[in-house]
Amino acid sequence: MAFMKKYLLPTLGLFLAYYYYSANKEFRPEMLQGKKVIVTGASKGIGKEMAYHLARMGAHVVLTARSKERLQKVVSHCLELGAASAHYIAGTMEDMTFAEQFVTKAGELMGGLDMLILNHITKNSLNFFQNDIHYVRKIMEVNFLSYVVLSAAALPMLKQHNGSIVIVSSMAGKLAQPLVAPYSASKFALDGFFSSIRKEHSIAKVNVSITLCVLGLINTDTAMGAVTGIINLPAAPKEECALEIIKGGALRQEEVHYDSSPWTSLLLENPGRRILEFLYLRKYDMDKFINN
Ligand SMILES: NC(=O)c1ccc[n+]([C@@H]2O[C@H](COP(=O)([O-])OP(=O)(O)OC[C@H]3O[C@@H](n4cnc5c(N)ncnc54)[C@H](OP(=O)(O)O)[C@@H]3O)[C@@H](O)[C@H]2O)c1
Ligand SMILES: *[C@@H]1O[C@H](CO)[C@@H](O)[C@H](O)[C@H]1NC(C)=O
Ligand SMILES: *[C@@H]1O[C@H](CO)[C@@H](O)[C@H](O)[C@H]1NC(C)=O
Repeated sequence: MAFMKKYLLPTLGLFLAYYYYSANKEFRPEMLQGKKVIVTGASKGIGKEMAYHLARMGAHVVLTARSKERLQKVVSHCLELGAASAHYIAGTMEDMTFAEQFVTKAGELMGGLDMLILNHITKNSLNFFQNDIHYVRKIMEVNFLSYVVLSAAALPMLKQHNGSIVIVSSMAGKLAQPLVAPYSASKFALDGFFSSIRKEHSIAKVNVSITLCVLGLINTDTAMGAVTGIINLPAAPKEECALEIIKGGALRQEEVHYDSSPWTSLLLENPGRRILEFLYLRKYDMDKFINN
């Protein structure tokens, strides 16, 4: 009972206050007007749809993926749709030097950076795990390590703009599913790393928001090709999915949950994790890490 009074009730109160507050902030497309945004994995699928939404909202965009031909087409269409500016830089996120230099060049092209949307993944097919260590290393590098490199390179610019980092993840990055062990590991890693960095930003008063997007099945060509005949689930539309990701980033939400079932978001809330994180944080003495 003492525990209830000391921790549980204040914690629950805080959550209610938080939800009331965040539910009251409303998205307006003008929030992105003139903003400087990077989208990775923008040559097709959800990344391409995000580029088109951002273009309609009048943002500056720099896009990347490996395929020059596809990126060129996406950039032309972004300009038709009303982007303040649109450029692409092609390269592979297997190469960490490319990742780092890409951010610098993109910042130069736009004269700064407000939002970094990390969305690319390496090819993934559904299968039992069969000891392919080479593939585990590759998927961790492309889906996780390059995200760390890109966000670290972008952080100085994002700090100057009170900017945002948006991480595209998956249900497989929050719960266990068969046939996707390496992919799942790379997506769980994003949650561990970026949710920890979010706590650090809040302690160190770094005003760069981090939004983790947990997506269900989305009707991109890649996903439909991979799951057909194996997973029987309705797929949600990629256009709406892309918009929800941008909204969540602009509203500086901690997480975006997007799925064809409305129950998913509620079930993903995981109040146990939130309460434990809150309680643990109270036990930290952070003075020696903060120089001010
Ligand atoms: N679709 C779904 O059902 C679903 C569900 C949950 C989460 N998600 C997440 O949503 C995001 C987008 O998925 P999507 O379905 O839109 O995928 P997609 O259509 O296959 O797009 C993947 C993008 O990544 C790029 N890419 C692939 N390998 C790369 C590399 N080595 N270096 C740099 N870029 C590379 C691709 O372009 P190039 O081939 O030209 O490089 C493409 O632009 C991913 O993070 C995924 O995990 C998707
Ligand atoms: C960042 O946010 C702070 C507090 O709201 C504000 O004073 C400052 O002007 C902002 N900086 C930029 C570049 O928007
Ligand atoms: C952080 O930046 C956002 C966006 O510019 C701003 O609305 C907010 O007031 C800033 N918060 C703090 C604590 O500076």
